[in-house]
Amino acid sequence: MTAGPGAPGFYESVGFAYDHDVETRFGPALRMHRAVPAGGGAPPCGTGELAFRLIVDADLPMLHRWLNEPGVVRWWEGDDVSWEAVARDYVRDGTAEHWIACRGGAGVGWIQCWAVADEPDECGPWIGLGIDRTAAGIDYLVGDPADRGRGVGSAMIRAFVDDVVFGLHPQWSQACAAPYEANVASWRALEKAGLRFVGTVDGKEGPCRLMAAGREERPTASPGGG
Ligand SMILES: CC(C)(COP(=O)(O)OP(=O)(O)OC[C@H]1O[C@@H](n2cnc3c(N)ncnc32)[C@H](O)[C@@H]1OP(=O)(O)O)[C@@H](O)C(=O)NCCC(=O)NCCS
Repeated sequence: MTAGPGAPGFYESVGFAYDHDVETRFGPALRMHRAVPAGGGAPPCGTGELAFRLIVDADLPMLHRWLNEPGVVRWWEGDDVSWEAVARDYVRDGTAEHWIACRGGAGVGWIQCWAVADEPDECGPWIGLGIDRTAAGIDYLVGDPADRGRGVGSAMIRAFVDDVVFGLHPQWSQACAAPYEANVASWRALEKAGLRFVGTVDGKEGPCRLMAAGREERPTASPGGG
């Protein structure tokens, strides 16, 4: 991606208007963070490459379907993916940001980012392995099973780390994830997106591979420093 959501004027260029509420919630650094479609309805998502937009209520039926697909459920640790839980946890979750990855205007995946500092129980062992306290965690899925194993996941993670994690969050120094060792597609996708193996941590259902990339390793990410 050359001109993604981190680029000045990106949202305006695809028909979004500035949403004042978000500036008051997240501060001026994320001024365009929750851009909304100028004309209402489903937001446009760029012009054919992968692009990202914050999730909106209208995405919930799609997300609910994705989260209940057996290939996702298998890795979701028994989390509640009922309609009520998805509506409650995936749009207005306190600190995590939930994004829809789009290709050619259609949603292809969900991806979230959150501050490691907000999850001390899960991330204490990460910090013990050398992860920064100013790191971000990410979680993700490719919605349609037919799209998996075709490079979509690794492209989505790579673009998201550069354009959203580093591009919109100057305070974050690293991007990390810890998929189950058994979820080979997930940690291979991270590897292909440029995250490296840091160490093994315990998950609820077995060992996980902790993977990370630092801002300084990403030539296309913004310099940050805020
Ligand atoms: C994990 C996920 C996002 C990866 O996206 P993807 O589009 O399938 O991955 P990619 O096509 O980019 O491939 C990543 C690598 O894993 C490999 N891979 C894909 N599926 C695999 C599988 N079932 N077993 C082993 N390797 C697999 C690919 O071949 C590729 O490696 P290669 O280039 O060396 O061949 C996607 O599979 C998914 O949504 N899975 C269900 C939800 C999930 O597990 N989310 C992550 C929770 S931590």
